[in-house]
Amino acid sequence: MPVLNDTADTAVRQRALTALEQARARTHALTSCLDDSELMAQHSALMSPLVWDLAHIGNQEDIWLLREAGGQPALRPELDPVYDAFRTPRADRPGLPMLSPDRARRFVAEVRERALDVLAVAPLTGHPLFHGGFVFGMVAQHEQQHDETMLATHQLRRGPAVLKAPPPPSAVGGDLPREVLVRAGPFTMGTDPETDPWALDNERPAHTVDLPAFWLDTTPVTNAAYQEFIADGGYTKSRWWHPDGWAYIRKTQLSAPLFWRREGNIWLRRRFGSLEPVPPAAPVMHVSWYEADAYARWAGRRLPTEAEWEKAARHDPDTGHSARHPWGDTDPGPEHANLGQCHLEPAAAGAYPAGTAPCGARQLLGDVWEWTASDFTGYPGFTAFPYREYSEVFFGGEAATYKVLRGGSFGTDPVACRSTFRNWDFPIRRQIFAGFRTARDA
Ligand code: AVJ
Ligand code: FE
Repeated sequence: MPVLNDTADTAVRQRALTALEQARARTHALTSCLDDSELMAQHSALMSPLVWDLAHIGNQEDIWLLREAGGQPALRPELDPVYDAFRTPRADRPGLPMLSPDRARRFVAEVRERALDVLAVAPLTGHPLFHGGFVFGMVAQHEQQHDETMLATHQLRRGPAVLKAPPPPSAVGGDLPREVLVRAGPFTMGTDPETDPWALDNERPAHTVDLPAFWLDTTPVTNAAYQEFIADGGYTKSRWWHPDGWAYIRKTQLSAPLFWRREGNIWLRRRFGSLEPVPPAAPVMHVSWYEADAYARWAGRRLPTEAEWEKAARHDPDTGHSARHPWGDTDPGPEHANLGQCHLEPAAAGAYPAGTAPCGARQLLGDVWEWTASDFTGYPGFTAFPYREYSEVFFGGEAATYKVLRGGSFGTDPVACRSTFRNWDFPIRRQIFAGFRTARDA
């Protein structure tokens, strides 16, 4: 038995316990507000039925915390094929022999009870799976990632609103400069287990990247700015578009962000079951990488690379330090960023002054995921850990297919968000809570 009364050890265990419990509270909030038929239904071919996500969360915890970390027999090994994301694409999941909502709830609760027994006695050093409580942090982040996916399913769902949250804070500080300068020079990109024990494999290892100076938008691009692009015929002029993006919007007849609808002279959007005017000062959201890329070209600019984004989001040129967050190494609080589903929409551009980065950019974390120019691939020296299917199978080689998004959204929990965190999706995808900001060479 490891010694349990060591303070650092207790703090790690407590942090893991809190992260697991907060994830579960959110999972329940997202799945207790709909009846069984809505939980079993497929609200979009892009998404799983919510009850699939629920039991998949439990199955991953059964695999990683009971079997791998606990060395115990699986609680329900027969569920592995049903909840293996690689075996059945999302569109086909309604046909799986899924657990009913009640059985799924009982299953996740039983796994959790045993998982907490594992947490109480697990080593926290030695094997990399346990170092700093990694595997517990990984499982908590996995659940929170699915909670954001489930939030996106709620957004796609038709029908009356079931989720409620107070509005986000307003912009602060009057007119901000349109862009900020990120000075030339090296910075530390990525991180290591010693610095950030819960960072996932694709964030590792830390390495130095030297960048020329560039200008970056102070805030994400707003709905008002994006409407100018639309009004200027942005969707009708091939010159702004990547050839694949142009072909895609021609084929699908897209002319505005997902969930937008024009009525007379005003743009309306559907948001979690309510129709409302598009708020001009808020970051544009539900645009594809192709739309972000086209807007940037129309504006005479470009998307930042992910290295540029990360440098802006953590490098302090005065100290040379690469911090965990734009505001430094302290944990995110409600004053720093719009994270954790506290508000169900992005805040106006210019909110969260306490979250400002050393370069002066705001809202790098939270509000909307930000598309970057970069393809998803491994950093130099990458090793898959603890399983290839988290990141490595999505890396592009010659034919890169996934684009990197950074920064998290209002739907991302703080445990699954930091300046090094990397998300990825296909460049056509619009159901995620994604917007963007633009850059230009200095
Ligand atoms: C990191 C959001 C792209 O949802 O596909 C969930 C997270 N991985 N279960 C995804 C994930 C395994 C992943 N993203
Ligand atoms: Fe998963």
